[in-house]
Amino acid sequence: MSAQGAPRARRLTEANQEAHFLLEDLYLDFMEALLEVDYEAAHLQLARLTGAIEAHAALEDVHAIPRFAHWLEGRTEAQARTVSSLEGEIVVTEKTDLHLAGDHKILLRGLAAAARQLLALTEKQAPRRQLASVLEPFVRFQSVLEHHTVREQRFLYPVLDTILESEEAAALADSLIATVKAGSKIEVPPS
Ligand SMILES: [Fe+2]
Ligand SMILES: [Fe+2]
Repeated sequence: MSAQGAPRARRLTEANQEAHFLLEDLYLDFMEALLEVDYEAAHLQLARLTGAIEAHAALEDVHAIPRFAHWLEGRTEAQARTVSSLEGEIVVTEKTDLHLAGDHKILLRGLAAAARQLLALTEKQAPRRQLASVLEPFVRFQSVLEHHTVREQRFLYPVLDTILESEEAAALADSLIATVKAGSKIEVPPS
């Protein structure tokens, strides 16, 4: 375990950043198809994004967030909850833990809302003007994902970079990226 104040590796923080860059790319692939009013392609890209987020979030729900919660439980003084993040020293609170646990559910609900909206548009073969009037669920999802990324990069992974042993951290770092890549590989049935 790293001693308090010792230089800390950023392995998990960097791996999660890379994973979330991939998620942003998948979101933009989806939005690109949507704005081209190519609903078939939009369905495929939304399925890729959903698969990637489900797999990545499931890994974090089991292997990352509980470790963070356990770390937080063991600390009663605000001073002892200070972590060295990419933005300098920050204090972690119980509220942070609650947000992390809830974010994944909100993201998955947002994806379900986006899928419903996309289906409604597809059924009507809605033209671009009609699409433009109902973009809110798609855009809101992006803002939720951005907030979630910031929380993980500021709190969750700087803490895990500090408390996990290097072998465990290395395995988790690889999995953070692998889940996104594997989850986004949706089989397309032959036409
Ligand atoms: Fe993540
Ligand atoms: Fe996450």
